[in-house]
Amino acid sequence: MKEINVLFLDDEQNVLNAVNRIFMDEPYGVAVARNAQEAMDIMQREKIKVVLSDQRMPDISGIEFLHQIKVQYPDVVRILFTAYADLFAAEAAINISEVYRFINKPWHPEELKTAVATALHYHDMIMENRRLFEEMKVKNEELRQANSRLQVLYDLQKEFSSTLSHELRTPLASIKAAIDIVIGGSAGATTPEQKDFLGRAKANIDRLNRLINNILDLAHMESGKAVLDKKSGDMNKVIRSVAETQESVARSKGLYLTVSLDPRLPPLAFDHDMIIQVLNNLIANAIKFTDAGGITVSSHTDEGRHQLEVRVTDTGRGIDQEDTSKLFEKFQQLGQAHERHAGTGLGLAICKEIIRQHGGKVGVKSQKGEGSCFYFILPVF
Ligand SMILES: Nc1ncnc2c1ncn2[C@@H]1O[C@H](COP(=O)(O)OP(=O)(O)OP(=O)(O)O)[C@@H](O)[C@H]1O
Ligand SMILES: [Mg+2]
Repeated sequence: MKEINVLFLDDEQNVLNAVNRIFMDEPYGVAVARNAQEAMDIMQREKIKVVLSDQRMPDISGIEFLHQIKVQYPDVVRILFTAYADLFAAEAAINISEVYRFINKPWHPEELKTAVATALHYHDMIMENRRLFEEMKVKNEELRQANSRLQVLYDLQKEFSSTLSHELRTPLASIKAAIDIVIGGSAGATTPEQKDFLGRAKANIDRLNRLINNILDLAHMESGKAVLDKKSGDMNKVIRSVAETQESVARSKGLYLTVSLDPRLPPLAFDHDMIIQVLNNLIANAIKFTDAGGITVSSHTDEGRHQLEVRVTDTGRGIDQEDTSKLFEKFQQLGQAHERHAGTGLGLAICKEIIRQHGGKVGVKSQKGEGSCFYFILPVF
Protein backbone atom coordinates (compact mmCIF):
# COMPACT_ATOMS: atom_id res chain seq x y z
CA MET A 1 0.00 0.00 0.00
CA LYS A 2 1.29 3.37 -1.04
CA GLU A 3 1.11 6.20 1.42
CA ILE A 4 -1.39 8.78 0.22
CA ASN A 5 0.36 12.13 0.04
CA VAL A 6 -1.57 14.08 -2.57
CA LEU A 7 -5.17 15.23 -2.62
CA PHE A 8 -7.13 16.55 -5.63
CA LEU A 9 -10.37 18.45 -5.25
CA ASP A 10 -12.49 18.94 -8.37
CA ASP A 11 -16.22 18.84 -8.92
CA GLU A 12 -15.88 17.19 -12.31
CA GLN A 13 -15.72 13.40 -12.13
CA ASN A 14 -13.98 13.03 -15.51
CA VAL A 15 -11.14 15.27 -14.29
CA LEU A 16 -10.74 13.11 -11.19
CA ASN A 17 -10.75 9.96 -13.30
CA ALA A 18 -7.99 11.39 -15.42
CA VAL A 19 -5.99 12.23 -12.30
CA ASN A 20 -6.35 8.69 -11.00
CA ARG A 21 -5.05 7.33 -14.28
CA ILE A 22 -2.11 9.73 -14.55
CA PHE A 23 -0.81 9.07 -11.03
CA MET A 24 -1.37 5.34 -11.01
CA ASP A 25 2.32 4.44 -11.31
CA GLU A 26 3.79 7.12 -9.04
CA PRO A 27 5.53 6.00 -5.84
CA TYR A 28 3.07 8.00 -3.73
CA GLY A 29 -0.69 7.54 -3.49
CA VAL A 30 -3.22 10.11 -4.67
CA ALA A 31 -6.71 10.69 -3.26
CA VAL A 32 -9.51 12.51 -5.07
CA ALA A 33 -12.52 14.36 -3.67
CA ARG A 34 -15.56 15.88 -5.39
CA ASN A 35 -16.46 18.30 -2.65
CA ALA A 36 -14.87 20.10 0.31
CA GLN A 37 -16.42 17.82 2.95
CA GLU A 38 -15.01 14.72 1.31
CA ALA A 39 -11.65 16.45 0.98
CA MET A 40 -11.56 17.40 4.66
CA ASP A 41 -12.36 13.80 5.65
CA ILE A 42 -9.40 12.61 3.58
CA MET A 43 -7.18 15.28 5.13
CA GLN A 44 -7.96 13.82 8.53
CA ARG A 45 -7.29 10.23 7.53
CA GLU A 46 -4.20 10.45 5.32
CA LYS A 47 -0.73 11.95 5.46
CA ILE A 48 -1.39 14.60 2.85
CA LYS A 49 1.51 16.79 1.83
CA VAL A 50 0.15 18.50 -1.29
CA VAL A 51 -3.40 19.65 -2.04
CA LEU A 52 -4.53 20.69 -5.52
CA SER A 53 -7.92 22.34 -5.91
CA ASP A 54 -10.07 23.57 -8.73
CA GLN A 55 -11.14 27.20 -8.42
CA ARG A 56 -14.69 27.08 -9.78
CA MET A 57 -16.84 24.67 -7.77
CA PRO A 58 -20.52 24.88 -6.79
CA ASP A 59 -20.29 24.73 -2.98
CA ILE A 60 -16.97 26.51 -2.32
CA SER A 61 -14.30 28.35 -4.32
CA GLY A 62 -10.82 26.87 -4.55
CA ILE A 63 -9.40 29.92 -2.80
CA GLU A 64 -11.73 29.51 0.17
CA PHE A 65 -11.00 25.82 0.39
CA LEU A 66 -7.23 26.34 0.23
CA HIS A 67 -7.60 29.02 2.88
CA GLN A 68 -9.25 26.47 5.19
CA ILE A 69 -6.42 24.06 4.46
CA LYS A 70 -3.89 26.76 5.27
CA VAL A 71 -5.54 27.41 8.63
CA GLN A 72 -5.92 23.76 9.62
CA TYR A 73 -2.84 22.25 7.93
CA PRO A 74 -0.34 25.07 7.49
CA ASP A 75 2.48 22.72 6.35
CA VAL A 76 0.53 21.32 3.41
CA VAL A 77 1.62 22.74 0.05
CA ARG A 78 -1.32 24.31 -1.82
CA ILE A 79 -1.83 24.47 -5.59
CA LEU A 80 -4.75 26.14 -7.41
CA PHE A 81 -6.15 25.24 -10.84
CA THR A 82 -7.37 28.18 -12.83
CA ALA A 83 -9.44 27.62 -15.90
CA TYR A 84 -8.70 31.04 -17.37
CA ALA A 85 -6.52 33.97 -16.51
CA ASP A 86 -8.53 35.20 -13.56
CA LEU A 87 -6.58 38.10 -12.06
CA PHE A 88 -8.79 38.38 -9.00
CA ALA A 89 -8.39 34.67 -8.25
CA ALA A 90 -4.62 34.93 -8.58
CA GLU A 91 -4.36 37.86 -6.21
CA ALA A 92 -6.67 36.34 -3.61
CA ALA A 93 -4.97 32.97 -3.91
CA ILE A 94 -1.62 34.54 -3.08
CA ASN A 95 -2.84 36.87 -0.33
CA ILE A 96 -5.43 34.72 1.37
CA SER A 97 -4.51 31.12 0.71
CA GLU A 98 -0.77 31.54 0.16
CA VAL A 99 -0.75 29.05 -2.68
CA TYR A 100 2.53 27.60 -3.80
CA ARG A 101 1.69 27.92 -7.51
CA PHE A 102 -1.08 27.92 -10.13
CA ILE A 103 -1.68 25.38 -12.82
CA ASN A 104 -3.63 26.42 -15.85
CA LYS A 105 -6.47 24.26 -17.05
CA PRO A 106 -6.50 22.25 -19.16
CA TRP A 107 -3.26 20.81 -17.92
CA HIS A 108 -0.89 18.50 -19.67
CA PRO A 109 -0.40 15.18 -17.76
CA GLU A 110 3.40 15.39 -17.75
CA GLU A 111 3.32 18.99 -16.59
CA LEU A 112 0.94 18.07 -13.80
CA LYS A 113 3.13 15.19 -12.65
CA THR A 114 6.20 17.41 -12.58
CA ALA A 115 4.32 20.08 -10.65
CA VAL A 116 3.16 17.56 -8.04
CA ALA A 117 6.61 15.98 -7.72
CA THR A 118 8.17 19.43 -7.23
CA ALA A 119 5.56 20.35 -4.63
CA LEU A 120 6.17 17.10 -2.73
CA HIS A 121 9.89 17.78 -2.77
CA TYR A 122 9.25 21.31 -1.55
CA HIS A 123 7.13 19.99 1.30
CA ASP A 124 9.81 17.49 2.35
CA MET A 125 12.39 20.24 2.27
CA ILE A 126 10.28 22.48 4.48
CA MET A 127 9.75 19.66 6.95
CA GLU A 128 13.44 18.76 6.91
CA ASN A 129 14.34 22.41 7.49
CA ARG A 130 11.90 22.59 10.34
CA ARG A 131 13.27 19.37 11.82
CA LEU A 132 16.82 20.71 11.58
CA PHE A 133 15.74 23.98 13.09
CA GLU A 134 14.02 22.21 15.99
CA GLU A 135 17.06 19.99 16.45
CA MET A 136 19.26 23.07 16.49
CA LYS A 137 17.01 24.68 19.07
CA VAL A 138 17.26 21.61 21.27
CA LYS A 139 21.05 21.43 20.78
CA ASN A 140 21.35 25.14 21.51
CA GLU A 141 19.37 24.73 24.68
CA GLU A 142 21.52 21.76 25.68
CA LEU A 143 24.63 23.82 25.01
CA ARG A 144 23.26 26.71 26.99
CA GLN A 145 22.51 24.44 29.92
CA ALA A 146 25.89 22.73 29.70
CA ASN A 147 27.50 26.14 29.61
CA SER A 148 25.74 27.38 32.66
CA ARG A 149 26.55 24.12 34.49
CA LEU A 150 30.19 24.61 33.52
CA GLN A 151 30.10 28.18 34.74
CA VAL A 152 28.70 27.01 38.07
CA LEU A 153 31.39 24.34 38.27
CA TYR A 154 34.05 26.81 37.31
CA ASP A 155 32.91 29.29 39.97
CA LEU A 156 32.78 26.47 42.49
CA GLN A 157 36.24 25.32 41.52
CA LYS A 158 37.62 28.83 41.79
CA GLU A 159 36.05 29.31 45.16
CA PHE A 160 37.18 25.85 46.19
CA SER A 161 40.72 26.51 44.99
CA SER A 162 41.14 29.77 46.82
CA THR A 163 39.48 28.46 49.98
CA LEU A 164 41.49 25.28 49.75
CA SER A 165 44.78 27.04 49.30
CA HIS A 166 44.06 29.38 52.19
CA GLU A 167 42.67 26.66 54.46
CA LEU A 168 45.59 24.36 53.77
CA ARG A 169 48.43 26.81 53.67
CA THR A 170 47.58 28.67 56.86
CA PRO A 171 47.60 25.67 59.23
CA LEU A 172 50.64 24.24 57.45
CA ALA A 173 52.52 27.46 58.02
CA SER A 174 51.67 27.44 61.72
CA ILE A 175 52.61 23.75 62.10
CA LYS A 176 55.93 24.51 60.47
CA ALA A 177 56.53 27.52 62.72
CA ALA A 178 55.75 25.43 65.79
CA ILE A 179 58.15 22.71 64.69
CA ASP A 180 60.84 25.33 64.10
CA ILE A 181 60.37 26.59 67.65
CA VAL A 182 60.72 23.08 69.08
CA ILE A 183 63.77 22.27 66.90
CA GLY A 184 65.31 25.64 67.79
CA GLY A 185 65.15 24.72 71.48
CA SER A 186 63.08 27.67 72.71
CA ALA A 187 60.43 25.24 73.98
CA GLY A 188 62.89 23.14 75.90
CA ALA A 189 65.64 20.67 75.11
CA THR A 190 65.05 17.99 72.45
CA THR A 191 66.88 14.76 71.94
CA PRO A 192 68.62 14.15 68.58
CA GLU A 193 66.01 11.49 67.86
CA GLN A 194 63.18 13.95 68.43
CA LYS A 195 64.95 16.48 66.21
CA ASP A 196 65.23 13.86 63.50
CA PHE A 197 61.49 13.14 63.62
CA LEU A 198 60.66 16.82 63.59
CA GLY A 199 62.98 17.31 60.62
CA ARG A 200 61.09 14.65 58.72
CA ALA A 201 57.77 16.25 59.62
CA LYS A 202 59.07 19.56 58.28
CA ALA A 203 60.22 17.99 55.01
CA ASN A 204 56.77 16.54 54.54
CA ILE A 205 55.16 19.90 55.20
CA ASP A 206 57.36 21.39 52.48
CA ARG A 207 56.31 18.64 50.14
CA LEU A 208 52.65 19.22 50.94
CA ASN A 209 53.13 22.93 50.25
CA ARG A 210 54.72 22.15 46.89
CA LEU A 211 51.92 19.76 46.06
CA ILE A 212 49.25 22.34 46.89
CA ASN A 213 51.02 24.98 44.82
CA ASN A 214 51.47 22.63 41.86
CA ILE A 215 47.89 21.40 41.91
CA LEU A 216 46.56 24.93 42.08
CA ASP A 217 48.94 26.13 39.34
CA LEU A 218 47.89 23.34 37.05
CA ALA A 219 44.17 23.75 37.80
CA HIS A 220 44.46 27.46 37.10
CA MET A 221 46.25 26.88 33.79
CA GLU A 222 43.94 24.09 32.67
CA SER A 223 40.88 26.20 33.42
CA GLY A 224 42.07 28.42 30.55
CA LYS A 225 41.88 31.45 32.79
CA ALA A 226 45.62 31.79 33.20
CA VAL A 227 46.87 34.67 31.07
CA LEU A 228 50.38 34.57 29.72
CA ASP A 229 52.40 37.65 30.50
CA LYS A 230 54.46 37.60 27.32
CA LYS A 231 57.48 39.85 26.92
CA SER A 232 60.05 39.79 24.19
CA GLY A 233 63.35 38.53 25.53
CA ASP A 234 66.55 36.63 25.02
CA MET A 235 66.04 32.95 25.82
CA ASN A 236 69.79 32.41 26.15
CA LYS A 237 69.95 34.95 28.94
CA VAL A 238 67.10 33.22 30.80
CA ILE A 239 68.77 29.81 30.39
CA ARG A 240 72.06 31.19 31.68
CA SER A 241 70.51 32.67 34.80
CA VAL A 242 68.45 29.55 35.65
CA ALA A 243 71.53 27.35 35.14
CA GLU A 244 73.54 29.59 37.42
CA THR A 245 71.06 29.23 40.27
CA GLN A 246 70.99 25.43 39.91
CA GLU A 247 74.74 24.95 39.50
CA SER A 248 75.48 24.67 43.20
CA VAL A 249 72.85 21.93 43.56
CA ALA A 250 74.47 19.99 40.75
CA ARG A 251 77.94 20.53 42.17
CA SER A 252 76.87 19.29 45.59
CA LYS A 253 76.02 15.97 43.89
CA GLY A 254 79.38 15.98 42.10
CA LEU A 255 77.74 16.75 38.74
CA TYR A 256 78.66 19.32 36.12
CA LEU A 257 76.07 21.74 34.76
CA THR A 258 77.08 23.44 31.53
CA VAL A 259 75.27 25.53 28.97
CA SER A 260 75.79 25.49 25.21
CA LEU A 261 73.90 28.33 23.60
CA ASP A 262 73.22 29.09 19.96
CA PRO A 263 74.00 32.78 19.39
CA ARG A 264 71.69 32.90 16.35
CA LEU A 265 68.60 32.43 18.56
CA PRO A 266 65.87 34.82 17.38
CA PRO A 267 64.22 37.11 19.94
CA LEU A 268 60.89 35.72 21.14
CA ALA A 269 57.93 36.85 23.21
CA PHE A 270 57.32 34.52 26.14
CA ASP A 271 56.13 34.50 29.72
CA HIS A 272 59.45 34.70 31.52
CA ASP A 273 58.29 33.41 34.91
CA MET A 274 56.58 30.43 33.32
CA ILE A 275 59.51 29.49 31.09
CA ILE A 276 61.81 29.84 34.10
CA GLN A 277 59.51 27.40 35.89
CA VAL A 278 59.84 24.94 32.99
CA LEU A 279 63.63 25.23 32.91
CA ASN A 280 63.84 24.88 36.67
CA ASN A 281 61.82 21.69 36.66
CA LEU A 282 63.68 20.12 33.74
CA ILE A 283 67.06 20.93 35.25
CA ALA A 284 65.96 19.85 38.75
CA ASN A 285 64.75 16.54 37.31
CA ALA A 286 68.01 16.05 35.43
CA ILE A 287 70.00 16.64 38.61
CA LYS A 288 67.65 14.44 40.65
CA PHE A 289 67.88 11.48 38.31
CA THR A 290 71.60 11.65 37.52
CA ASP A 291 74.27 10.17 39.76
CA ALA A 292 77.43 10.61 37.68
CA GLY A 293 78.44 12.93 34.87
CA GLY A 294 76.23 15.95 34.52
CA ILE A 295 73.73 18.10 32.71
CA THR A 296 73.99 20.21 29.58
CA VAL A 297 71.42 22.87 28.76
CA SER A 298 71.54 23.87 25.11
CA SER A 299 69.59 26.12 22.77
CA HIS A 300 69.06 25.63 19.05
CA THR A 301 67.29 27.19 16.10
CA ASP A 302 66.63 26.11 12.53
CA GLU A 303 67.94 27.63 9.28
CA GLY A 304 65.03 29.99 8.84
CA ARG A 305 64.96 30.74 12.57
CA HIS A 306 61.24 29.81 12.66
CA GLN A 307 61.51 27.99 15.95
CA LEU A 308 63.60 27.72 18.99
CA GLU A 309 64.49 24.59 20.89
CA VAL A 310 65.87 24.16 24.38
CA ARG A 311 67.30 20.81 25.47
CA VAL A 312 68.21 19.60 28.92
CA THR A 313 70.46 16.60 28.42
CA ASP A 314 71.71 14.46 31.27
CA THR A 315 73.92 11.43 31.72
CA GLY A 316 71.53 9.91 34.24
CA ARG A 317 69.60 6.71 34.55
CA GLY A 318 67.45 7.22 31.45
CA ILE A 319 63.88 6.08 30.90
CA ASP A 320 62.36 3.00 29.35
CA GLN A 321 60.97 3.72 25.89
CA GLU A 322 57.47 2.63 26.90
CA ASP A 323 57.41 5.01 29.86
CA THR A 324 58.41 8.17 28.03
CA SER A 325 54.95 9.11 26.75
CA LYS A 326 53.17 8.95 30.10
CA LEU A 327 55.71 11.04 32.04
CA PHE A 328 54.02 14.26 30.97
CA GLU A 329 50.74 13.16 32.48
CA LYS A 330 49.79 14.13 36.01
CA PHE A 331 51.16 12.10 38.92
CA GLN A 332 53.26 9.82 36.73
CA GLN A 333 56.45 8.91 38.53
CA LEU A 334 58.88 6.10 37.90
CA GLY A 335 61.48 4.61 40.16
CA GLN A 336 61.57 3.79 43.85
CA ALA A 337 58.91 4.76 46.34
CA HIS A 338 61.23 6.97 48.38
CA GLU A 339 62.07 9.02 45.28
CA ARG A 340 58.46 9.31 44.35
CA HIS A 341 57.67 10.63 47.77
CA ALA A 342 60.14 13.44 47.36
CA GLY A 343 58.47 14.87 44.27
CA THR A 344 54.86 15.62 43.40
CA GLY A 345 54.82 14.06 39.95
CA LEU A 346 53.32 17.24 38.55
CA GLY A 347 56.46 19.00 37.32
CA LEU A 348 56.37 17.68 33.76
CA ALA A 349 52.59 18.07 33.48
CA ILE A 350 53.00 21.73 34.38
CA CYS A 351 55.86 22.09 31.85
CA LYS A 352 53.70 20.55 29.15
CA GLU A 353 50.78 22.88 29.89
CA ILE A 354 53.00 25.99 29.95
CA ILE A 355 54.64 25.09 26.64
CA ARG A 356 51.26 24.22 25.12
CA GLN A 357 49.98 27.65 26.08
CA HIS A 358 52.95 29.12 24.23
CA GLY A 359 51.94 27.17 21.12
CA GLY A 360 54.92 24.84 21.43
CA LYS A 361 55.57 21.25 22.36
CA VAL A 362 57.60 19.26 24.86
CA GLY A 363 59.18 15.88 24.46
CA VAL A 364 61.85 13.50 25.61
CA LYS A 365 64.40 11.27 23.96
CA SER A 366 65.84 8.69 26.27
CA GLN A 367 67.10 5.19 26.68
CA LYS A 368 67.29 3.23 29.88
CA GLY A 369 70.75 3.62 31.38
CA GLU A 370 71.90 6.04 28.68
CA GLY A 371 70.71 9.39 29.99
CA SER A 372 67.81 11.54 28.83
CA CYS A 373 67.20 14.59 26.74
CA PHE A 374 64.08 16.60 27.64
CA TYR A 375 63.32 19.38 25.19
CA PHE A 376 60.76 22.01 24.34
CA ILE A 377 60.20 23.75 21.04
CA LEU A 378 58.62 27.17 20.71
CA PRO A 379 57.43 28.69 17.44
CA VAL A 380 58.73 32.13 16.54
CA PHE A 381 56.04 34.35 15.02
N1 LIG B 1 65.84 13.54 33.61
C1 LIG B 1 65.14 12.46 33.99
N2 LIG B 1 65.71 11.24 33.99
C2 LIG B 1 65.00 10.14 34.37
N3 LIG B 1 63.70 10.17 34.74
C3 LIG B 1 63.07 11.36 34.76
C4 LIG B 1 63.75 12.56 34.37
N4 LIG B 1 62.87 13.58 34.48
C5 LIG B 1 61.72 13.04 34.90
N5 LIG B 1 61.82 11.72 35.08
C6 LIG B 1 60.77 10.79 35.51
O1 LIG B 1 59.54 11.43 35.29
C7 LIG B 1 58.77 11.50 36.49
C8 LIG B 1 57.90 12.72 36.48
O2 LIG B 1 58.65 13.92 36.57
P1 LIG B 1 57.98 15.20 37.16
O3 LIG B 1 58.92 16.33 37.05
O4 LIG B 1 56.65 15.34 36.54
O5 LIG B 1 57.70 14.80 38.66
P2 LIG B 1 58.71 14.71 39.86
O6 LIG B 1 60.04 15.29 39.47
O7 LIG B 1 58.68 13.32 40.37
O8 LIG B 1 58.01 15.63 40.92
P3 LIG B 1 58.21 17.22 41.05
O9 LIG B 1 58.57 17.74 39.73
O10 LIG B 1 56.90 17.70 41.54
O11 LIG B 1 59.28 17.39 42.05
C9 LIG B 1 59.81 11.48 37.58
O12 LIG B 1 59.27 11.04 38.77
C10 LIG B 1 60.83 10.52 37.01
O13 LIG B 1 60.41 9.19 37.23
MG1 LIG C 1 60.14 17.29 38.57
